[in-house]
Amino acid sequence: MTTPQPPTIQAPAYVKNTKLIAWVSEMAALCKPAHIHWCDGSQEEYDQLCQQLVDAGTFKKLNPAKRPGSYLAWSDPSDVARVEDRTFICSEHEADAGSTNNWMAPAQMRQTLQPLFDGCMRGRTMYVVPFSMGPLGSPIAHVGVELSDSAYVAVNMQIMTRMGKAVYDVIGADGEFVPCMHTVGAPLAEGEKDHTSWPCNPDTKYIVHYPETREIWSYGSGYGGNALLGKKCLALRIASKMGKDQGWLAEHMLILGVTNPEGKKYHVAAAFPSACGKTNFSMLVPPDAFEGWKVTTIGDDIAWIKPQPDGSLRAINPEAGYFGVAPGTNYHTNPNCMASLDKNVIFTNVALTDDGDVWWEGMEKDSGSIPAHLLDWQGKDWTPEDGKAGRKAAHANARFTVAATNNPALDEAWDDPAGVPIDAFIFGGRRSSTVPLVTEARNWTEGVYMAATMGSETTAAAFGAQGVVRRDPFAMLPFMGYNMSDYFQHWLDLGAKLQAQGAKLPAIYCVNWFRKNAEGKFVWPGYGDNMRVLKWMIDRLENQVSGTETMFGIAPQYGEINWQGLDFSAAQFDSVTSIDRAAWQEEFQSHSAHFDQLGERLPAALRQVRQALEERLAG
Ligand code: OXD
Ligand code: MN
Repeated sequence: MTTPQPPTIQAPAYVKNTKLIAWVSEMAALCKPAHIHWCDGSQEEYDQLCQQLVDAGTFKKLNPAKRPGSYLAWSDPSDVARVEDRTFICSEHEADAGSTNNWMAPAQMRQTLQPLFDGCMRGRTMYVVPFSMGPLGSPIAHVGVELSDSAYVAVNMQIMTRMGKAVYDVIGADGEFVPCMHTVGAPLAEGEKDHTSWPCNPDTKYIVHYPETREIWSYGSGYGGNALLGKKCLALRIASKMGKDQGWLAEHMLILGVTNPEGKKYHVAAAFPSACGKTNFSMLVPPDAFEGWKVTTIGDDIAWIKPQPDGSLRAINPEAGYFGVAPGTNYHTNPNCMASLDKNVIFTNVALTDDGDVWWEGMEKDSGSIPAHLLDWQGKDWTPEDGKAGRKAAHANARFTVAATNNPALDEAWDDPAGVPIDAFIFGGRRSSTVPLVTEARNWTEGVYMAATMGSETTAAAFGAQGVVRRDPFAMLPFMGYNMSDYFQHWLDLGAKLQAQGAKLPAIYCVNWFRKNAEGKFVWPGYGDNMRVLKWMIDRLENQVSGTETMFGIAPQYGEINWQGLDFSAAQFDSVTSIDRAAWQEEFQSHSAHFDQLGERLPAALRQVRQALEERLAG
């Protein structure tokens, strides 16, 4: 019997980049796919790949009368989320990955991956997916090329990035790109057909980054951040290292625009850990009391921020779509998002209704009822009785993939290659006590301290014990491409450099929408009412309110917030803004322990801020 030969790579004539052609050729020889498909990013290609996914049983086409142009995929039950414990930062020196990352020496990791990738695409097609993170040709953007044996990845990348032919023009004959290798890790023997609609490797997964050589190698998963390599792998882990080396910032931040009734516009970048409502905040609808105010979305998850010659910071959203969590999204929590999901969406792991539409927990708030029958995210019959027994119809991490252009609140500058100027940063976590609703850092270093010590209470589903504070500095814990302490220093250095240039730095705010009362209920209404806090921040930028000095920065006075249309008493306000001395003593001890874990490279300036804050608390 003869072994099938890997195909010759036959790059289309418009692909001129010699390094790219050589790399695809080398990777095809390693992975041994049956076919190679050079993606051009056209609508015809998207439609054809979606049809192929329907034929393979990976996609179900949704009822076009209810959800035009949309599909539903159900993943393997073992492949439903990012795998942080299988994610590696392989810098030459372990200390450069830092204590928050899994590390293996690059040579050892290459040896581990080599046999796994050898023949990993047998019987499958290798898709060559060229993409730009950020507007094509923008000085803030960067290009990647993903080689993947998953058509699901190719179509998701088409929505999530600027993907297609035009990217080859950007990199020309010798331009740079980040090589991103991806395989589901499920080769087929000769003549073998897939016996599953979601091929993956249930036993072996590796999400590997070589930050110094700027490479990504992902094995075994077809899901989200593990497989759509432009997002967390390139735009955060690799880009954070590029930013460190080149003097800019790659951040886990949404970017929004706020325009006041006089037409003056502000731009805010905000970092929240996963599951703190980032997409909701980025698409916020102001309450009626804010007539004439407009909030518009530039990005919902990632910001690339580059300092300009005049000392300002300009930001782009490197992505072109949203890969958001569906459960909990409804017209009450996020009307703009629900409107975005009307058509041309790929849903993953939500439930299927009997009339060919999608459903997830939280949608009953819109319709007033739960469907009498569904197929759950594993294709099993589901009724409201199952829901009462605690079985969810949609997986808690079920997702939608949708183009940014579907968003009715999309900012007109979302695709501007020059980016938008940042006026303020917001850092927030999910804390049921201790951290106040909002405070403004007195200076850049104090703001970096607030971000470096932010944390979120874990949910049982995600990380074991419920209610334990997981420190998540800058909301970057799972996404840092190098040593966390060096990253803090990078932020401090950037601030110092811009200040030395005479620039006015963006203000830094710490927020917590999630304080609970003695009955365990959230006190702050959140969602659209977060506009009240946003407006206070803008008033601070304009020096229209003085706030009040607290131990942990400058806080609003009750009378400085617009309460029109919301019944929120001074006592309630006090319960979300008060500083509990005993709780903060414990909090500072926990900050100290967190700093100790981050090791000896922690900037001394941050320990000094803690000491100064502790003295204020004691005083
Ligand atoms: C995301 C995350 O999917 O942060 O955006 O986990
Ligand atoms: Mn995210």
